[in-house]
Amino acid sequence: MKRAGQVLLAFLMALGLVMLAAGCGGQKGGTAQQGGEKKPIVVKFSHVVSENTPKHQAALKFKELLESKSNGQFKVEVYPSSQLYGDKEELEALRANNVQLIAPSATKLVGLNPAFQLVDMPFLFKDDQQAYRFYDGEYGQKLLKSLEPQGMLGLAWWPNGSKHFTNSKRPLRRPEDFQGLKFRTQSGGVLDDQFKALGAGSQTIAFGEVYVALQNKTVDGQENTFNNIDTQKYDEVQKYMTVSGHGRIDYVVLTNTTFWNSLTEDQKKLFLECMKEATKYERQLTDELNAKSFENLKKRGKMEIYTLTEEDRQAFIKAMQPVYDKYADKIGREYIEAARKA
Ligand code: LMR
Repeated sequence: MKRAGQVLLAFLMALGLVMLAAGCGGQKGGTAQQGGEKKPIVVKFSHVVSENTPKHQAALKFKELLESKSNGQFKVEVYPSSQLYGDKEELEALRANNVQLIAPSATKLVGLNPAFQLVDMPFLFKDDQQAYRFYDGEYGQKLLKSLEPQGMLGLAWWPNGSKHFTNSKRPLRRPEDFQGLKFRTQSGGVLDDQFKALGAGSQTIAFGEVYVALQNKTVDGQENTFNNIDTQKYDEVQKYMTVSGHGRIDYVVLTNTTFWNSLTEDQKKLFLECMKEATKYERQLTDELNAKSFENLKKRGKMEIYTLTEEDRQAFIKAMQPVYDKYADKIGREYIEAARKA
């Protein structure tokens, strides 16, 4: 017994020494002190869009805020344009904590929680403010927390706004014009069924591969915000744009829960404060950049642009009704109600 006690004591002392040498590894907040120098906590932020976008600019704003307000406790590295991970990889990378922040469009979270497809429901939100009220309200916040069992936590909603159709074949003014065309979708059944309701086909393609898919005519068209259409230069490979505002593309800023739980309460507080400020900035910028991009597209004049009339809009709402019949229960009627009332 005495010998066993001695062995245990020796083991505990050795363990203590190892932990000391490792600079008290495992300490919350990760600000280990090595050779007297504090190592910052590195936060990798990966996303798929280009630099002149609300998502990238807000990510840079967040970096600036967190690095300065934490006095160098954090170092934020922002990787745009699928440089680090594309649509297919970024969720897995976040889950593995290889990256600490991503901001996929809500649509791309459908495999984890089908309720995120709410954002895709045709003509659900009348304007940006209604969408923001929903995101900031009870149900929007519930969605942010819904991925915790999968090791991810939503920190903010970063909108990009209304999406519009482009294609290379013909002007799309009425639902029947879509007959037989094929469109790129981000993911999820709602978008496939939206095109099906219009008599069109669809194919899921990662954002980083859309330009080439349009160029090679793998698909005839796609749907996106003015800012994405402009910054991805889809007008080089598309002939027609319909200003439809038939749905939205909005982002969920996600972090990894293991990373999150490694932070101290003060660090979490600061992180959230900076995220709140960056979110405010993002929402202002979204309006500005989309308006600017619409002007750029008009100026470049490569696509013929058609804006839906109120009568056209009503025809699309009617044609897309089957999407509500099929998905209201899958998404949760309470979410759709909350969005309508927001
Ligand atoms: C898309 O895949 O079309 C967009 O969601 C990309 C983005 O992040 O804006």
